[in-house]
Amino acid sequence: MAKLLSLLIMFILFIFFFFFFTPTLSCPPECQKQALLQFTASLANLTDDDLKHWNSSSDGCLFPFVKCSSSNVVEIVLGDLNPYRTPWRVWTSTILTPLFHIRTLTVLDLSFNEIRGELPRNGFANLSRLEHLNLRGNHFNGSLPSQLFQLRFLQTLDMADNSFHGNIPPEIGNMTKLSYLYFSGNNFFGEIPTSIVSLKELTTLDLSFNSLSLEIPIEFGNLSNIDDLDLSYNNLTGIIPSSIQKLTKLVALNLINNMLTGEFPSWLFDMKNLTSLLIGGNNLIWNNSAKIVPKFTLSKLSLRSSGLAGKIPDWISTHKTLVHLDLRENQLEGTFPQGLAEMNFEYINLSDNRLTGSLPPQLFGFNLLVLSLSRNNFYGKLPSNISNATRLMALMLDGNNFSGKLPKFISNINLCLLDLSNNKFSSNTLPDFSSNVNLRIIDLSSNEFSGEISTNLFQTTFLSLGKNKFSSFPKNLTHMSNLEYLDIHDNKITGELSNSICQISTLQILILRNNSLQGSILDCIFNLTNLQILDLSINHLVGKIPTNLGNLTGMIEMPGEIFSRFGKYFATVENQVLDKLGNWNKAKRVMSFKTNDLIVNWKKSIQGLSIDNLKGYSLLDLSMNQLSSEIPASLGNLKALKIFNISHNNLFGRIPANLGDLKNLESLDLSHNNLSGSIPQSIANLLQLTIFDVSNNKLKGKIPEGSQMDTMNDPKSYANNSGLCGMQIQVPCSKQPLPTKPPELKSKETWFSWEGVGIGYAVGFFVAVGISYLSNSCKTFNYCSQQRRQRV
Ligand SMILES: *[C@@H]1O[C@H](CO)[C@@H](O)[C@H](O)[C@H]1NC(C)=O
Ligand SMILES: *[C@@H]1O[C@H](CO)[C@@H](O)[C@H](O)[C@H]1NC(C)=O
Ligand SMILES: *[C@@H]1O[C@H](CO)[C@@H](O)[C@H](O)[C@H]1NC(C)=O
Ligand SMILES: *[C@@H]1O[C@H](CO)[C@@H](O)[C@H](O)[C@H]1NC(C)=O
Ligand SMILES: *[C@@H]1O[C@H](CO)[C@@H](O)[C@H](O)[C@H]1NC(C)=O
Ligand SMILES: *[C@@H]1O[C@H](CO)[C@@H](O)[C@H](O)[C@H]1NC(C)=O
Ligand SMILES: *[C@@H]1O[C@H](CO)[C@@H](O)[C@H](O)[C@H]1NC(C)=O
Ligand SMILES: *[C@@H]1O[C@H](CO)[C@@H](O)[C@H](O)[C@H]1NC(C)=O
Ligand SMILES: *[C@@H]1O[C@H](CO)[C@@H](O)[C@H](O)[C@H]1NC(C)=O
Ligand SMILES: *[C@@H]1O[C@H](CO)[C@@H](O)[C@H](O)[C@H]1NC(C)=O
Ligand SMILES: *[C@@H]1O[C@H](CO)[C@@H](O)[C@H](O)[C@H]1NC(C)=O
Ligand SMILES: *[C@@H]1O[C@H](CO)[C@@H](O)[C@H](O)[C@H]1NC(C)=O
Repeated sequence: MAKLLSLLIMFILFIFFFFFFTPTLSCPPECQKQALLQFTASLANLTDDDLKHWNSSSDGCLFPFVKCSSSNVVEIVLGDLNPYRTPWRVWTSTILTPLFHIRTLTVLDLSFNEIRGELPRNGFANLSRLEHLNLRGNHFNGSLPSQLFQLRFLQTLDMADNSFHGNIPPEIGNMTKLSYLYFSGNNFFGEIPTSIVSLKELTTLDLSFNSLSLEIPIEFGNLSNIDDLDLSYNNLTGIIPSSIQKLTKLVALNLINNMLTGEFPSWLFDMKNLTSLLIGGNNLIWNNSAKIVPKFTLSKLSLRSSGLAGKIPDWISTHKTLVHLDLRENQLEGTFPQGLAEMNFEYINLSDNRLTGSLPPQLFGFNLLVLSLSRNNFYGKLPSNISNATRLMALMLDGNNFSGKLPKFISNINLCLLDLSNNKFSSNTLPDFSSNVNLRIIDLSSNEFSGEISTNLFQTTFLSLGKNKFSSFPKNLTHMSNLEYLDIHDNKITGELSNSICQISTLQILILRNNSLQGSILDCIFNLTNLQILDLSINHLVGKIPTNLGNLTGMIEMPGEIFSRFGKYFATVENQVLDKLGNWNKAKRVMSFKTNDLIVNWKKSIQGLSIDNLKGYSLLDLSMNQLSSEIPASLGNLKALKIFNISHNNLFGRIPANLGDLKNLESLDLSHNNLSGSIPQSIANLLQLTIFDVSNNKLKGKIPEGSQMDTMNDPKSYANNSGLCGMQIQVPCSKQPLPTKPPELKSKETWFSWEGVGIGYAVGFFVAVGISYLSNSCKTFNYCSQQRRQRV
């Protein structure tokens, strides 16, 4: 019996030890220290000195990013190790492995470290005491390991802004202590598991920016502690469950951009605690005649594309606490309500409505950061007190009927982005923006500006001035050392190009089409090594095509990352604004800034290229000038070119065989010149060619055959020459008669089939422009001082 008793005591002791001391026994402090060292060693040289120091110290608890409790490591907080996003070695998810030995951990925060790869399948079960897990802002992919859902004590689970995919498993309902759940900005799909409603402690649920579909679980109202619910930017369907009205603690509700249907729930207006209601971009039916007396007091409201018609609802103006208002993409009419203008907005977006009238001066209050009234029918002058809005960062008034001069004091505003395109603004001197160090994006295209183009735009990267009446090109462009995009097409610019343009070596896109430029193409143009698109067509340029053009590196190398940057500028500006708005997570895609397409002559028709997606578009257009020289053989270097147009000039001599090296060429237009000799056989090497025009020259001899050339059989492309022959134009060459009978049949067949291929090469252009949700940081640009770590 005593034996049995002692056995029992031993057993109880064993159980006791097992449950209480197992973690320390299986990995005592020294083992924990070694695990930490192993982990930090894998974090590369960043911590080399520290490592030595730590290794010699006796205790892992002395590591600066660690907290201990009775000699056991309980917290590891090591986020944002590479704040400037300098390229380092790649960290993979295997660096987590040593940490799974530290079974005493309650807090693990490795957010914003750019760790990639899948989370280890095994290991999380070891961290059974974990209460807070933050892996936000890395590049983790794959699905979530099932062991994660065994962590019963977890209160915070932050997996936002990674690349996780897969379903959210129903086991999530087992984590009953969960208070904060962030899964936003991943690729989760499938339904929201109903089991999620058993998370009674949940106060914040953010599943935004995924691909979740099907209906919101009808019992969402069981989440009785929730105060912040964000399901925006998913594919959710069905109605908004009426059980949500039971959530009396709800302060912020964001359902923007789903596919929710049904009538707009009027009970929402009775939810007294709500301060942020973002619900636009669904298919809800809005009862425009309903009398609304809201019981909440909002600071943020979005009813974006919600079918609102008529005047801006009166009840909105009664919310004096409103700082953020997004009513874009509705059918709102009438003028800007005076009451609304007198409020203290930070952010107003009323773009894409039918609003009219002039702008009330009171609108430009001190707090305003973003004002977007794009694509309405507003008119009149800009109020002269516009500079009262000294904090304004983004002003988007494009697509209205504004007129008059720009108020002089507009330059007192520290703007980042100014889009006044498609209005009737006129003046022959632009304001002096020389002290506006943040003004990176300026679009004044399609207005009536005239005079000399101002160069007092020191930091501007993107300058779009097309379709105005500017008459002279700036003499001194030395200041504009950041310019990458300069578009001045369809103006009235006369005189010669200034040599100083050759100093802007950042320039990637230069469009001067349809002006009255004189003189010759500058020899120094080779200095613009980043130039990817050069359009000097429809001017009065004379002289030769400089041999130097063949040295334009931007047209030689296959365009890389650099060419898709413009989309990022807009995202960058947006990030800056969001940093100021202080709600980076909550208001992604707030700007709705749409750039005008880049208009060029692409394959014989004027086309718009989406500026967001210029990667791979390289173009050289010198057509419709009076250039007279031979075609320099060096142009064969420009291997990245897709479009090459030198038609309608006085070029003479032979077509250089080197043009056959332009392997990416899709369109080659040499028509309306004085070119002589024959078409070089090398042209048949251009396998991407879909447009080929040599008409109106003095060419003779056999048109090359083989591959794409067999499809180039439009007689108009060869008309008016001095004796071209070949199967393409059904003119037999005398020396080499067309093969008869079976071969001819065969070649006819080939023409047909190749035509299909030709069509296949067409590239889609009108890719939607919009600010995409980019999780990349703004740190690439030094002007943006705000750091991403300031996010929640
Ligand atoms: C720590 O030091 C020991 C011996 O001093 C060495 O064997 C070990 O590799 C070191 N660990 C790291 C991570 O540097
Ligand atoms: C870290 O090491 C890499 C090579 O592994 C090196 O290129 C880089 O400059 C180092 N960084 C620092 C901050 O020492
Ligand atoms: C879990 O912890 C134990 C004890 O420290 C260790 O032996 C085991 O390797 C750990 N499991 C994983 C997957 O790291
Ligand atoms: C995760 O990313 C790595 C590269 O970082 C890749 O090799 C792997 O295939 C990806 N896994 C999944 C499931 O996409
Ligand atoms: C976890 O959840 C699943 C599915 O919801 C359930 O079948 C299982 O019993 C749960 N496990 C525990 C330990 O509660
Ligand atoms: C979500 O909806 C959009 C628009 O209908 C569709 O293009 C997309 O494929 C959908 N995504 C998923 C994962 O269903
Ligand atoms: C939601 O709450 C109701 C009432 O409290 C309960 O009957 C129901 O089972 C709950 N649903 C879920 C899925 O937990
Ligand atoms: C607002 O929330 C508080 C708790 O935060 C709660 O006590 C109160 O009842 C709520 N008000 C309403 C009207 O539901
Ligand atoms: C602009 O600001 C000045 C002083 O800061 C103020 O006196 C004036 O009333 C403001 N104008 C408007 C229209 O708000
Ligand atoms: C152009 O402007 C720069 C900077 O103000 C100045 O240093 C330079 O002398 C100017 N060049 C000419 C030709 O006027
Ligand atoms: C070429 O560009 C550099 C700046 O990258 C500039 O300093 C130099 O003056 C330019 N050369 C010519 C000929 O314009
Ligand atoms: C242009 O490239 C050619 C080689 O293609 C080279 O000989 C010449 O020096 C280059 N010219 C300049 C100005 O870089």
